Amino acid sequence: MASVPSLASTLQQQLADALTAALPDAGTADPLLRRSDRADFQANGILALAKKLKGNPRELASQVTAALPAGELIKDIEVSGPGFLNITLTDRAIVETLAARAADGDRLGVPLKAAPGTTVVDYAQPNVAKEMHVGHLRSAVIGDAVVQILEFTGESVVRRHHIGDWGTQFGMLIQYLFEHPDELKHEGDKADGEAAMSSLNRVYKASRVLFDSDEEFKARSRDRVVALQAGDPETLAHWQRFVDESKIYFYSVFDKLDMEIDDPDIVGESGYNDMLEETCRILEETGVAVRSEGALCVFFDDVKGPDGNPVPLIVKKTNGGYGYAATDLSAIRDRVQNLKAETLLYVVDARQSLHFKMVFETARRAGWLNEDVTAHQLAFGTVLGKDGKPFKTREGTTVRLEDLLDEAVERATAVVREKAEKVGLSEEEIVENGRYVGVGAVKYADLSTSAVRDYKFDLDQMVSLNGDTSVYLQYAYARIRSILRKAGDAKPAAHPELDLAPAERALGLHLDQFGAVLEEVAEGYEPHKLAAYLYQLASHLTTFYDQCQVLSDENPAEVVENRLFLVELTARTLHQGMKLLGIRTPERL
Ligand code: ARG
Repeated sequence: MASVPSLASTLQQQLADALTAALPDAGTADPLLRRSDRADFQANGILALAKKLKGNPRELASQVTAALPAGELIKDIEVSGPGFLNITLTDRAIVETLAARAADGDRLGVPLKAAPGTTVVDYAQPNVAKEMHVGHLRSAVIGDAVVQILEFTGESVVRRHHIGDWGTQFGMLIQYLFEHPDELKHEGDKADGEAAMSSLNRVYKASRVLFDSDEEFKARSRDRVVALQAGDPETLAHWQRFVDESKIYFYSVFDKLDMEIDDPDIVGESGYNDMLEETCRILEETGVAVRSEGALCVFFDDVKGPDGNPVPLIVKKTNGGYGYAATDLSAIRDRVQNLKAETLLYVVDARQSLHFKMVFETARRAGWLNEDVTAHQLAFGTVLGKDGKPFKTREGTTVRLEDLLDEAVERATAVVREKAEKVGLSEEEIVENGRYVGVGAVKYADLSTSAVRDYKFDLDQMVSLNGDTSVYLQYAYARIRSILRKAGDAKPAAHPELDLAPAERALGLHLDQFGAVLEEVAEGYEPHKLAAYLYQLASHLTTFYDQCQVLSDENPAEVVENRLFLVELTARTLHQGMKLLGIRTPERL
């Protein structure tokens, strides 16, 4: 395994050294290197530096040029305009770097982080006895991509699925189950998530009706909450049945999403019950939380209600109950003190931002978070329908996640089927690819816009073959695989001695950026930048096909091999990038 520095970073370093050589007193100066249309790169940093030192920028630019080492990296460098440097690299440098990437297996030359730490990612956190909705979809999809990306950089990642499995709402459900013990059984397959959910729904509705109409049932339900909190074994056993049944359902949805979720990583709200009392005690003893109207509260100068009065974070209610905040604060203690995390990441709806702002600030005051141990909410926006309003069914109810995924797969299968005959796909392959294309479409649509933005859920657009969609990328991959199959005896091989066509250079320079892009994506938790990179990669590939034939009898053997080498590396980069986004790349499409 050998990491490969990008051409841009090597060039950046050479320019910085040349700057220092030309101006020994300037300290470290940034040459401000950018990709450019004029040449391969443009360095704009000399202008500002010359101004600062009251020198002549064009003169300084020439000095820097002279101080650059002779070597095989730079083909051409010219001073342009008021003092920019336009730099063109040699074709040899491009092909040799790519060859080094190609020799590095799945890592493609991408370096591991110099100082990896531990990050806990809180994502995919549905609620027990409730349907999963599109918000849970976003958390799962974005969280899964972020986990994969961070792991690829070498970070240790602990996954935490903070499911909603505790609270007063369970009193009514459990009481109902005590009185109707056979109700939570569904017909058929134990692994049938939909049946599990429909039986949960049935119990939920029936108990709700009783709760709202029967005062005595209501009272029994309240007592049941007390028994649950006191840890009464029989009550807990009934509670566990709801959790287990819900998990059957959750797993069926995660499975549809082609996403691996491991049971030990599901640590729901109830997992922190033993810590709640202590958390509150510490907060009260340290003065972080104070009693206010019987409740234990934390106040913030900048959090006020519409009436101008402060809105506190309530860690313990007047009736002695603990809520969402006490649980999250305890989870922070667990993640920092027991899991030894330096970074806590929460992939949660932007509508919970105030909650996390208050929880994080409280944890900082308590000393659980500090400069070295930080927490971030990766807040995501709302999923909207085609009409731009929050996503609902025609009847105005929330859309069931399973239905939505099923529909995506159905549409995608139709798209796959259209071309299936030409490609020679079997029925089995059509079904499998339809699934990967459909689920990929949903994931990609979610991941290709910045998370905080709301996004429109538009299946027609998502499975379109043209434009910024996963299908477009999947076709790009499959097309390369098909070329490689057709190549017969010709094998991909790098030929640094060849001159490259403009489209080959553009593709090559883009391939070389993979590591740098991933670093930025991991740094800012921004999978949409990876999606954008991959889309550009596929676009470069399209231009390359337009301008360069790969398998043509007119090409000398080296050109064929070199082009096969370029497209194969492109395929591997597409595959790895898509994999990090949780999206499959079928071999034939
Ligand atoms: N279960 C919550 C919901 O459905 C999300 C939990 C987010 N994570 C957390 N640590 N509070 O809205």
